[in-house]
Amino acid sequence: MKIIAAVIGTGIGSKHIEAIDKYRNSHVTIVCENDNSKFQKLKKKFPKKKIVSDYKDILKVEKNVNFISIASYDHHHFEQLKYFIKYNKFITVEKPMVLSYEQLKIIDKMISKYKTKLISNLVLREVNLFKKIKSEINKKKVYYLEGDYLWGRLFKLFGWRSKSKNYSITLGAAIHIIDLFNWFLNDKPTHVYAVGNNLLTKGSKFKGLSLTSYFFKYKNGIIAKISANAGCIHPHFHEIKIFQKDKTIVSNLKNQFKINNVNKITNFSKSKSNYPDKKNRKKIIRGFIDAILDKKKISPTVKYQIDLMKICFAADKSIKFNKEIKIKY
Ligand SMILES: NC(=O)c1ccc[n+]([C@@H]2O[C@H](COP(=O)([O-])OP(=O)(O)OC[C@H]3O[C@@H](n4cnc5c(N)ncnc54)[C@H](O)[C@@H]3O)[C@@H](O)[C@H]2O)c1
Repeated sequence: MKIIAAVIGTGIGSKHIEAIDKYRNSHVTIVCENDNSKFQKLKKKFPKKKIVSDYKDILKVEKNVNFISIASYDHHHFEQLKYFIKYNKFITVEKPMVLSYEQLKIIDKMISKYKTKLISNLVLREVNLFKKIKSEINKKKVYYLEGDYLWGRLFKLFGWRSKSKNYSITLGAAIHIIDLFNWFLNDKPTHVYAVGNNLLTKGSKFKGLSLTSYFFKYKNGIIAKISANAGCIHPHFHEIKIFQKDKTIVSNLKNQFKINNVNKITNFSKSKSNYPDKKNRKKIIRGFIDAILDKKKISPTVKYQIDLMKICFAADKSIKFNKEIKIKY
């Protein structure tokens, strides 16, 4: 079997093209981009690929496409997912998969009906530093985690994100840390309480919250405090602290280290390939291709990815109603 792929959207989607092209005999044969100013440039850049502007033309132009990579704006994911699930395609969809619980229910049903193989691009799982941290964690000894998604790119909220109905930085940013902690703990939270403000964006065209903060409870009592901070004066960064009974693991802008006792601080190696480690982020999509070609289970499972969306929707509901929400899976 061969992967014949189409990629929709060429922002982060250009990374999808790199991840798929020539990996285990996979090829992106069609690129879909509806920004006219990019269209001609793409034709020049990819003379051998077909370039279309409407996703519904993909299967008309190349009926053998079996793999669709959706990297369009958040508010286009739902209709594009619905469309391609019906055609039984393998699907990579950028996070967030969809923008509302109602949309999720529909997609969940369709995935079950069509047995769709799908992944969302939860890239932090492939970052070397976070793999190292995961290997250091003893789940039985963890009692508290902190994770800050220091986005530091306020301007991003004023582009398409301002026009996107239901856009939220829970779905756009915090989702990565929530997923990271679930992966660290191999578990999912049971409850969430969250708050947010718009002090950085008040009076601007972005009408959502630009700072959010969450407390997640896990069933064994572990608490995770997470924030998504869109406009902080800080380089783009995922700051992490893991507290265990016997040690503390810290990754901040200055350093990555563990403390076994107050007199013993051990640094982790610090380099670009360790973090942000952009190169390895392609491995989520490549791992999906491996699973398809080798007929293995996809990881994380589709069920988990649906559950992750439920966690995010529960968090936004908590902000809206200002109360703790039990997460229903
Ligand atoms: N996994 C990650 O780490 C990560 C990082 C960045 C963005 N994203 C997600 O990727 C998606 C795209 O974000 P981005 O940062 O690349 O945005 P972007 O604005 O940089 O690029 C999006 C591109 O897609 C095109 N596009 C949008 N809708 C389209 C459609 N329906 N048909 C054809 N082309 C379309 C736009 O013209 C644009 O060129 C979003 O869902 C975002 O949340 C994920």
